Amino acid sequence: MSRRIIPILDQRTNAAVTPFTAISSTGLLLDSLQRPLRDLRISVTDRCNFRCIYCMPRSVFDQHYPYLPHSSLLTFEEITRTARLLVAHGVNKIRLTGGEPLLRKNLERLVAMLRALPTPDGLPLDITLTTNGALLAQKARLLKQAGLNRVTVSLDALDDEIFKRMNDADFSVAEVLHGLEVAHQEGLGPVKINMVVKKGVNDQQILPMARHFKGTPFTLRLIEYMDVGASNGWKMDEVVPSAEVINQLNASSADMQLIPQAANYPGETAQRWNYRDGSGEIGLISSVTQAFCQDCTRLRLSTEGKLYTCLFASQGYDVRTLLREQSDDSQLSSAMAQLWQQRGDRYSEIRHQQTGLAPKIEMSYIGG
Ligand code: GTP
Ligand code: 5AD
Ligand code: SF4
Ligand code: SF4
Repeated sequence: MSRRIIPILDQRTNAAVTPFTAISSTGLLLDSLQRPLRDLRISVTDRCNFRCIYCMPRSVFDQHYPYLPHSSLLTFEEITRTARLLVAHGVNKIRLTGGEPLLRKNLERLVAMLRALPTPDGLPLDITLTTNGALLAQKARLLKQAGLNRVTVSLDALDDEIFKRMNDADFSVAEVLHGLEVAHQEGLGPVKINMVVKKGVNDQQILPMARHFKGTPFTLRLIEYMDVGASNGWKMDEVVPSAEVINQLNASSADMQLIPQAANYPGETAQRWNYRDGSGEIGLISSVTQAFCQDCTRLRLSTEGKLYTCLFASQGYDVRTLLREQSDDSQLSSAMAQLWQQRGDRYSEIRHQQTGLAPKIEMSYIGG
């Protein structure tokens, strides 16, 4: 029987990525820069209850914004099937993102379905979630019971006024602190805290945040404000380089002295530093001043089923059509494997040469 092979389509031209070739459905995949596929980030909704100024500014994401209709969303079954095929190819970490992932109804059902996926080496998948924390207290137990390993919570300031100015949705610091405390109590640790630093807006919060989380079970990560998407009006002079943050902390007082640590795994986003006095760790994510594309093992699946090989991509590759056209597993698996093998993205390394390119996707659409 001759099998019809359906390649993944380029969204702009509707052309096949290349003529299709069948690829074994198991085995590690390397891209054109020899980077393995390890990390799958799945966006489960493009909606959010916050309007962070660096991600979903209210002026763009207002009541007229064309969010995806429900029929466009991948179902949990479609997501799980895609993930199963990618896990067979070496994905060992899955991160659920959004928008705000906890806005997707019954998310714990998806977590349980992903938890049941077999891995080639028999080791459990690392299943994690990035959230703004607003719904975390009420969802933490269900998520843990379903098999979620850990959560990362965004928090940009300890000062309520500054935090509300950043989330632009009147959410208070106390609500988020409560959410992360409950997540920790329920065993969703180690809980990480993501703080995006925007010069002139919350950079005066770096020290209070570092002091607050020092010596706690929570690991703070300070993130350079990035030029994702086309909505946030990014300017280089609004970025606080991580090197300045380290200098600021070191210069602040004797108990804030830091020592650099080795990465936990190749391609880790954060550079880790330990407090010299032994009271824990702090991370710096420096995608603007010190790109980490060289070891980037991340593939992203959008809410409507497009695969993106880079956070800064302007086009995705449609797997929803393959899923809904009743392609068999080997066709789908080969198409995704081929996409990874052709990947050559390294946007952050070459961002300064990028002008006049097609508009990039929004972070709220594809997740962090
Ligand atoms: P861990 O598994 O806990 O190490 O998580 P992580 O650091 O890989 O994931 P997280 O989603 O918490 O990433 C933190 C931040 O790093 C994101 O919010 C982004 O700002 C940035 N980031 C994550 N992945 C990428 C990436 O592939 N490229 C770039 N340029 N930035 C990224
Ligand atoms: N720059 C850096 N990080 C961003 N995030 C969203 N927008 C940006 C940006 N412009 C990250 C934040 C948040 C996660 C969901 O996405 O870390 O925690
Ligand atoms: Fe929502 Fe997270 Fe974007 Fe803020 S950064 S608007 S919480 S998706
Ligand atoms: Fe990976 Fe693209 Fe981010 Fe570089 S810019 S680390 S290639 S996602």
